[in-house]
Amino acid sequence: MYLFVEPERSFDVDIRQPASYVRRQFVISKPVQKAELEMTALGVYIGYFNGKRLTEEELLPGFTDYRYRVQLQSYDVTDQVRSGENVMAAVIGDGWYRGGLGAGSVRNQFGTRLAWMARLTVIYQDGTEEVFASDAKTKATQEGPVRTNDNKIGEEYDARREMPGWNQPGFDDASWHEVKEISYQGKVISHEGEPILRHECFSPKAFTTPKGDTVLDFSQNMMGRMRFHLTGKAGTQVTLTFGETLDENGEFTLDNLHIPGSGNHVSRDLQKLVYLCKGGEQTYESQFLICGFRYVKLENWPEEVKAENFQAYAIYSDLTQTGSFTCSNEKINQFVRNVRWSQKSNFVDIPTDCPTRERAGWTADISIFAKTACYQTDTRTFLRKWMRDYMLEQLPDGNLPFVVPTGEAPDNTWGCMGWSNALANVAMTLYQFYGDEGVLAEVYEAVKKFVEFNVRRAKKNHRLAFLSTRKDQEYIIDTGFHFGEWLEPGSSMPKDFMSAMIHPNTELTTAWFYLTARQLSEMAALLGKSEDHKEYEALAKKLKMVYRERFLKKGNLHAKRMCKYVRPLAMELTQGEEAGRIAADLAWMCEKNRYRIGTGFLTTWQILDVLADHGYLECAYRVLENEECPGWLYTVNKGATTTWENWLGIDQKNHPTDSLNHYAMGSCVSWLYSHCAGIRPLKPGFEEILIKPMPGGTLTYAKAEYQSLVGNICSEWRIENGTFFLHVSAPEGRRVKVALPDGSVQEMDGGTAQFRCLWKRA
Ligand code: BGC
Repeated sequence: MYLFVEPERSFDVDIRQPASYVRRQFVISKPVQKAELEMTALGVYIGYFNGKRLTEEELLPGFTDYRYRVQLQSYDVTDQVRSGENVMAAVIGDGWYRGGLGAGSVRNQFGTRLAWMARLTVIYQDGTEEVFASDAKTKATQEGPVRTNDNKIGEEYDARREMPGWNQPGFDDASWHEVKEISYQGKVISHEGEPILRHECFSPKAFTTPKGDTVLDFSQNMMGRMRFHLTGKAGTQVTLTFGETLDENGEFTLDNLHIPGSGNHVSRDLQKLVYLCKGGEQTYESQFLICGFRYVKLENWPEEVKAENFQAYAIYSDLTQTGSFTCSNEKINQFVRNVRWSQKSNFVDIPTDCPTRERAGWTADISIFAKTACYQTDTRTFLRKWMRDYMLEQLPDGNLPFVVPTGEAPDNTWGCMGWSNALANVAMTLYQFYGDEGVLAEVYEAVKKFVEFNVRRAKKNHRLAFLSTRKDQEYIIDTGFHFGEWLEPGSSMPKDFMSAMIHPNTELTTAWFYLTARQLSEMAALLGKSEDHKEYEALAKKLKMVYRERFLKKGNLHAKRMCKYVRPLAMELTQGEEAGRIAADLAWMCEKNRYRIGTGFLTTWQILDVLADHGYLECAYRVLENEECPGWLYTVNKGATTTWENWLGIDQKNHPTDSLNHYAMGSCVSWLYSHCAGIRPLKPGFEEILIKPMPGGTLTYAKAEYQSLVGNICSEWRIENGTFFLHVSAPEGRRVKVALPDGSVQEMDGGTAQFRCLWKRA
């Protein structure tokens, strides 16, 4: 029942194609009791029944690894079926299936020809049933108004080619071509993900740049689309380009999205809508192109630019919001809003790195952000759908990708430590928040295969390893490609890439190998697999010993990079006195660095936790509240409305670099919930709750609320005249342990309670 919707003529698969319009007309001759329509596509579809759009949901059928599975949507169309002629129809674009993906906008990752499937099951009032499907009676055309399309690169729309009534009964489709049935090799599954919907609506301010360009500013960086209204002459060509920022001269730019030396064409060809007017008044909003943007550059606008003619809509997966945080430092509050916006912009059916340059399911990004995402939203449905594609992409030898879904052929960058460990790390995070062992059972075999892959891989040696005579070499992963700490202040993507090419950072690969082995042993214990538990606990122990001997120098690290201190503390790779020495050195290093942050992707999510947990709470606050570059609040001072990929996203001279909408560096927000307000699960799923607020810095007030699966939890504190006041509320009957800043501990059985103690800054 699947149909190729394009004719068999050969076309250049590297060139963007017009959208396909498909329709299947049929006759209903008896009274109908129920009519259910199922639809999906290889590509992205907008479906219609008798001219009416089927749903407000966007980007259907969603992003899965189409080689293995595609989601199917069902619609109840009972009220729309009429006696006589009816039509089911769709416009189909390239979507993730064959559109540009990743930094290089590589096309055709899952296939080269778009296909459509529709099936209407009608139950008549007389009890009989009839099925109408996308079969050989379906007609299609590529002559409609969408001349080229891609989610990311652009769309060309020629309004003069509109075909009124094309999706309604009675339309003359004689000139449309026939379609060919194919068989789809993957699985058709019912819709698993969260719906992708339009949310907030923004109006712009229009201005002219020093160079004379007309630009709209929607004041919020987001993922979405813009609707516009204009009056123009037929054939007038208008171009709209969507970008995140202005440059240091106040000009519209996409240059920040170009990776120097990468050779990719993203900065030239990205987020561009070309619209050809049909004459008279008209309204349009791209149907396939979706953009990461705050600014829109207008070219050849045929009339006065009036703000009321433009609206931007944020579009993202509809996750239930579960958390909120506010405090007495307004800049922190703005930062938290920015992180929330980066999550929204990058939660579009799969968790992505950025909504602009790559839009790829980079695994480390979500691995380190998962905790923050779980405080802010209910991530269960969204992340589990993504994890299923992750597992399907595992290679027979156990290796895992670093971008999911990916249609690109595996190479030696697969299995890179810090990235490919995400399956285990995200599963453990979900378990902590929701207490469901089902998620662990589901990933268990895949995680085990990955650990076994690493056991074998560690035995292989880098070509320079003959220089080492150490016996523990067989536990060290020094082959393959590993991105490393990634984007520490002062570094850049090309620089990090080059150094990773030369030699893997074995301190990092060993630590992540250890973490995944430990997580596997924990999963085994929880799932009652005692043999496995013993085996992987022993492996984790061995790896810890190797790590300590090789890299810890009994805690006297004398390292120049903060990550070297944060990692062993955060991953519990220390023993005895080592932790104390390392934490003291880290705190000293922060002070010496005037509390400017010094970590990259792989330890930024942990630095505040380790400082606070090892007795350096004030230091953690100084780092959090630092406003100099690099620092979280520096970004707020620079007017950021989302979080940046690079600490230098907008430098002191206002020059923009890299994506300005990456959530990875915003992963410290979990700390505001878990430490500042102090809401933590004492048992997985918040079956028992810990409230341990840790006030400090300039804060005199903080409040976090978290809607857990067992009920609403709130921790709200203020400091007044040397007294710390705490208000706690938790679900009735739940055991709650309340640990106050003076060290005293009390217990409550849910409900609400007030606490107080003397407050003295540490
Ligand atoms: C992406 C990341 C990703 C990284 C790998 C970048 O191009 O945007 O966020 O994790 O590559 O190091």
